[in-house]
Amino acid sequence: MRGIVLAGGTGSRLWPSTISVCKQLMPVYDKPLIYYPISTLMSAQIREILIITTPSDQSLFQKLLGDGSQLGMEFTYQIQERPEGLAQALIIGADFIGDQGVALVLGDNIFHGVGLGHQLTSALDVEGAQIFGYHVADPRKYGVVELDSQGKALSIEEKPSHPKSQLAVTGLYFFDNRASSIAAQVTPSARGELEITSVLEAYLKTGELNVSVLSRGTAWLDTGSAESLHDAASYVRVIEERTGLKIGCLEEIAWRNGWITSQSLEELAKKMGSSNYGTYLTNLINSEG
Ligand code: TTP
Repeated sequence: MRGIVLAGGTGSRLWPSTISVCKQLMPVYDKPLIYYPISTLMSAQIREILIITTPSDQSLFQKLLGDGSQLGMEFTYQIQERPEGLAQALIIGADFIGDQGVALVLGDNIFHGVGLGHQLTSALDVEGAQIFGYHVADPRKYGVVELDSQGKALSIEEKPSHPKSQLAVTGLYFFDNRASSIAAQVTPSARGELEITSVLEAYLKTGELNVSVLSRGTAWLDTGSAESLHDAASYVRVIEERTGLKIGCLEEIAWRNGWITSQSLEELAKKMGSSNYGTYLTNLINSEG
């Protein structure tokens, strides 16, 4: 299974903050936003990741993340010329996906919770598509999925004014190898975008849309507005300070997954200088290495 992080877009709800810096490079407390969705894919044991960006931001992501080898991973980069919709990621990434399945995560979505890695790894061999529903107070702002009593998807609607359930579709999607060819058949919506909902509807029609509901102990945060970005930073800070453990720390996850040695982790820690992040990495080796 390969992974794609979709990190383009306009970020217009965050203007002026995102006029010269893109949203996914903005800090969420102590690290750039894109660390969190990358960490989500890593917790599903995905090591080959394509990062899709706008043309002008690609080099900034490359400066931050390199080719991934420092984490025992492989990062590749492609450009989305214009923000023409989430489903376009599957078309841009067709060659990268090759003959594999793919997990697509939105570059501004944060997932955190006990047992999440386990829940995600069980989606790795998905036949059809696997999405993750999350109970929200106001589903009208999201894609909404309706389930039958067996937990099978009955309908999926984009930002409905009368939602049929309170289950929002989160920004993490696992697909089998047909995803790119299905996305290529999608026609643009009224707002001119290739909607991910259209891809999901194609799987729904053939009874191959699987829905896994994230437990209420899981946090799903998106960071598209100033308020939600601030909430996410507060959440990360509170949890990290209370537990002494970091959320979305790529070096730590790579090390715990056995993808890098303690010596490599030490070198990565040194590169972080005297930041708290660097100290955290050093302490990891000292306490557990
Ligand atoms: P959105 O939050 O829907 O859009 P946006 O980031 O452009 O922000 P705004 O609505 O404030 O203008 O996008 C969700 C994620 O998907 C985000 O990480 C950006 C990314 N994205 C793309 O990379 N390409 C696209 O074509 C779209 C629509 C989104």
